[in-house]
Amino acid sequence: MAPTKEKFKKDRALRFYNEVLGLDRLHYGLFKNSDTRNIDGLIQAQLRYEEFLSGEINLLFPESSDTHILDVGCGTGAMSESLFRKSYLVEGLSPDLYQKELFEKRIPVPFHLARYQNFSSEKMYDMILMSESAQYIPLKKLFAKTNELIKDHGYLMVCDYFVLDHAEGKMAKSGHRLSAFLEEANKNNYHIVKEEDITEATLPTLDTAKIFTEKYVLPTIDIAQEKFLERRPFIFKTLKWFFRKNIAKAQENMILIDSTEFRKNKKYMFFIFKREKTRQ
Ligand SMILES: C[S@@+](CC[C@H](N)C(=O)[O-])C[C@H]1O[C@@H](n2cnc3c(N)ncnc32)[C@H](O)[C@@H]1O
Repeated sequence: MAPTKEKFKKDRALRFYNEVLGLDRLHYGLFKNSDTRNIDGLIQAQLRYEEFLSGEINLLFPESSDTHILDVGCGTGAMSESLFRKSYLVEGLSPDLYQKELFEKRIPVPFHLARYQNFSSEKMYDMILMSESAQYIPLKKLFAKTNELIKDHGYLMVCDYFVLDHAEGKMAKSGHRLSAFLEEANKNNYHIVKEEDITEATLPTLDTAKIFTEKYVLPTIDIAQEKFLERRPFIFKTLKWFFRKNIAKAQENMILIDSTEFRKNKKYMFFIFKREKTRQ
């Protein structure tokens, strides 16, 4: 890959999930009713999600040792590691320096520090995997880049949440519009070979995040505020005024972990697309 002037950072939120909450995976979980709605239950459900994807990959490519897979937005590298252990020729890609450190400690396979849309490679892949990373890549560039990197009749696996047409405001901000995504896939000759709406199984992830926030995060902030107010009332009030917009934004953002709002405005989908076009 040619040298780049792009700037890369370390994702602090990821460090928090990883080092404080002990989460090794950054995606939603696939919950069963019996799973507890706490961090342990979430970890189980995230493992189930990973096994689901890896089972689907195994159905597509039973012969792992000559299958090249690019894990786009590979996070901590947990999924790549699971594919590597099954002998797939997997490579990771992410624009994050902290993820690069974690990934390289984990498995001895190539890691590409890049945004997908700016990545280039001589290699062609049998499968491009996007586990909750498609939403970060501009839609047209996502398909344009995949066209460059995927083999004829290769597969694009996308597991992510999408925004429904009628959604607006905050609920429409993260995720591609489902209709636009499918239209772009079709325009680029990617045909759906498998699709599953996994919204209901993934939504307990948000319920768990809400319970965690209400039970631990908000009371901790309250107690810390009370103590600060007692000790330094003037500084406290000044800071509160100074950060009033951030505080209001954080309160508004609680809607993003509301599963009822999610259900109304979004869908969590699993797709396998096959590139039908052959190169001349
Ligand atoms: C929600 S995490 C999912 C991580 C991992 N795939 C998983 O399932 O746990 C989103 C991932 O996309 C990556 N990402 C963000 N913008 C990207 C881009 N433009 N190109 C490639 N990856 C990107 C993030 O660094 C992160 O690794």
